[in-house]
Amino acid sequence: MEQYIIKGGHPLVGEVEIGGAKNAALAILAAAIMTDETVLVDNLPDVNDINVLLDAISGIGANVHRVDRHTVKINGKGINDVNIEYDYIKKIRASYYLLGALLGKYKRAEVALPGGCNIGSRPIDQHIKGFRALGADVDIEYGKIMAEADRLVGKHIYFDVVSVGATINVMMAATMADGLTIMENVAKEPHVVDVANFLNSMGANIRGAGTDVIKIRGVQRLHSTEYSVIPDQIEAGTFMFAAAATKGDVTVLNVIPKHLEATIAKLVEIGCEVEEFDDAVRVVSKGDLTSTHVKTLPYPGFPTDMQPQIGVTLALCQGTSTITESIFENRFKYLDELARMGANVKIEGNSATIEGVKKFTGARVSAPDLRAGAALCIAGLATDGITIVDDIVYIQRGYERFEDKLRGIGGIIEKVETEKDIQKFKLKVS
Ligand code: EPZ
Repeated sequence: MEQYIIKGGHPLVGEVEIGGAKNAALAILAAAIMTDETVLVDNLPDVNDINVLLDAISGIGANVHRVDRHTVKINGKGINDVNIEYDYIKKIRASYYLLGALLGKYKRAEVALPGGCNIGSRPIDQHIKGFRALGADVDIEYGKIMAEADRLVGKHIYFDVVSVGATINVMMAATMADGLTIMENVAKEPHVVDVANFLNSMGANIRGAGTDVIKIRGVQRLHSTEYSVIPDQIEAGTFMFAAAATKGDVTVLNVIPKHLEATIAKLVEIGCEVEEFDDAVRVVSKGDLTSTHVKTLPYPGFPTDMQPQIGVTLALCQGTSTITESIFENRFKYLDELARMGANVKIEGNSATIEGVKKFTGARVSAPDLRAGAALCIAGLATDGITIVDDIVYIQRGYERFEDKLRGIGGIIEKVETEKDIQKFKLKVS
């Protein structure tokens, strides 16, 4: 299995180019099949999750043409199957976006039920509630979600939980329902807005994305478009916290600073200097950082996908910090790994108390999930020893050329597979 090996203790300094938002791109690629005309999407991140979803899309008969690593053309005309196999869902949950897209376009879809994952049980009851509200019969049998409707009719839907996935999935189905759909208590993440903008560029009539209420007037058909995915605010924030934790000076390029407000606020709170430009943000961390308190919330609150990254940074801040994880029930596993590097942490339910330490010591750790894996790499980079991170396949699902980008700002990190590679690296850096 591939691993990252890291020689830390050096401040990260320089500029890093941020790619397209994985969580916007996954939904946009699913929505692209809702027209029989050709759709071009660019600024895609070249990561495993995107490649798996493109396989699922071509697997049901759509024409998928990869123009280059970051650009794809999709034409949904040839779709001859509305059944998404478990294989795809097992690899990436977000394949379930095809449920809303296929139901909207063909009024029927069969998608394997996604399981839980390392960060929580991940129910989809709100997705199903929305589809049923639009008039679909939705049954769950044999591990599959079967959704079917003679016609979808616009409805007033109030979500019980603010859910990114349910907001996007139901928005896609409502796009081609008859009449007006009003969705309340919806997610307001930038990637929800990006999907709405994408659908509108295909001829949809969606208003209010990014606010608490989204209004959709259904249309009969959608047409071709060319669309560029927004920058990934989670990738950007990951490098920003890497700068903070390593006492570095890093500028993230090709970002939308507005999407990073909660992250910037916390970096300033702990003592970093942050400079905002039109499409870049610079983070400088010179002196000792100080503790703070964080609660993850739906956007525009502090993002749960940034929780491990700030957790690693707070473990090196003077004083006592607390993190409350209000979105997922099992997103502190990385702290057990961090404790093996010398962090002083105490977890009680959905909150963690972190006593800052002067430094970590290098260790062999395992990435429990995508964002936690990236955070453990930050811990290794902040440690003046050797750290090995196992199970980096999680990281590669959501971060394009992660080790290259870190090396580009002075990180000493390599992908290794064998004990021999590890010894070679140790010789090289000693
Ligand atoms: C999306 O997951 C992201 N994934 C996650 O990012 C992100 O952590 C999450 O949104 C929150 O921002 C993608 O976009 C592919 P939710 P999603 O539905 O849509 C509960 C990453 O690292 N809930 O907003 O699955 C749920 O249990 C990944 O890129 C229900 O109760 O998240 C959770 O407590 C990890 N019923 C809360 O809502 C439902 O029907 C928020 O989940 C749906 C969700």
